[in-house]
Amino acid sequence: MKNLFEKTAINNIEVKNRFIRAATWDETAEENGHINEVTIKRYEDLAKGGVGLILTGYAFISKDEHPNPGMFGIYDDTFIEEYKILVDRVHKYETKIAMQIVYGGSQTEHPDASKMNIYGPSAVKNLVSGITPKEATKDDIRVIVMKFGDAAARAKKAGFDAVEIHAAHGYLLSQFLTPFYNRRTDEYGGGIHNRARIIYEVIEEIRKRVGPSYPIMIKINFDDLMKKNQGLTKEESIEIFKRIDELGIDMIEPSAANLSSGEGAVPFLKGVNTVEKQSYFKEDVMNIASIVKAKVILMGGNKNIGLMEDILNTTKIEYFSLSRTLLCEPDLINKWKDNKEYTPKCISCNRCWDAVPNSCIFNR
Ligand SMILES: Cc1cc2nc3c(=O)[nH]c(=O)nc-3n(C[C@H](O)[C@H](O)[C@H](O)COP(=O)(O)O)c2cc1C
Ligand code: SF4
Repeated sequence: MKNLFEKTAINNIEVKNRFIRAATWDETAEENGHINEVTIKRYEDLAKGGVGLILTGYAFISKDEHPNPGMFGIYDDTFIEEYKILVDRVHKYETKIAMQIVYGGSQTEHPDASKMNIYGPSAVKNLVSGITPKEATKDDIRVIVMKFGDAAARAKKAGFDAVEIHAAHGYLLSQFLTPFYNRRTDEYGGGIHNRARIIYEVIEEIRKRVGPSYPIMIKINFDDLMKKNQGLTKEESIEIFKRIDELGIDMIEPSAANLSSGEGAVPFLKGVNTVEKQSYFKEDVMNIASIVKAKVILMGGNKNIGLMEDILNTTKIEYFSLSRTLLCEPDLINKWKDNKEYTPKCISCNRCWDAVPNSCIFNR
């Protein structure tokens, strides 16, 4: 029988349990993406709290744009030394840490977005931000792919144990998958493998830069859940999962929805307060896990040890990522280790964004 608290290997790294802190933008970094002691303290608290692997909040890879204030940056080498400090502080507690890397695109909530140089698959006005990006030429796409490679190489240099490509939730890579935002007629638009081509190129570039034994993870939508407009579908995403598996991705964290999906369609569901509502993507993610060799993470509303143990032992899902519950209680994993029946305090109210920095109503 598999155990949530056992050690496992992800490519060349060993992780002490099957709990992962899902990437969480915490808005503690400086406007230029540099981090500070407040940031480091948050990560140290998480590491102390028992989680096996931490994913950082999304870090921007291009100096030209970023979708939110207070994000981490990783767009040049000046970041390497400070991230070494962050990584060392986390490693003191035998916790692993991976950096999530992103190119934002037109789905931006940054107040200065209109001054930024933002690319998209096509020049389609974003339904939420109102920003119309420049359509990326093939040369621009190559530059973006290289920036992902550079960012991953820097993360490795800084000592991060892995990188996660953010290809979910409506940011640039995710937008390429969404027919509403990708109207291209060249080899980056149209059929699903054309729309996913930029993602395949990012994976290949990163692998070239970090070598075969460094874990590469990806967070990617299995469904855009778009109500009015044409989004990525489950049937299409299955084809992507098969292909990225062949490309040697180590770990997949499936998610769903983007800010343009429509009312209520979000990756962070509200009111996940009964076991029936918890681990809400389990059916779809179970199917994905059954067809890939890569390790698969179940994300979204994981709040009950019994349910997660059951999923672990009856499906091919091997890891569980948590965002809001750990924002609320960074020591939740230790609490669960002592008492499997412990009920997390997070009430899934989604008021984490009401304050700067992002934080839980229970510990402001
Ligand atoms: C405050 C906050 C910030 C987030 N930032 C990110 C992020 O930087 N990258 C990302 O992929 N997802 C981000 N998410 C989504 C979470 O990683 C996760 O997918 C979602 O909240 C569902 O998991 P949960 O039910 O455990 O919260 C964020 C969520 C919250 C609440
Ligand atoms: S504010 Fe706190 S309780 Fe509400 S969803 Fe965020 S983490 Fe959970």
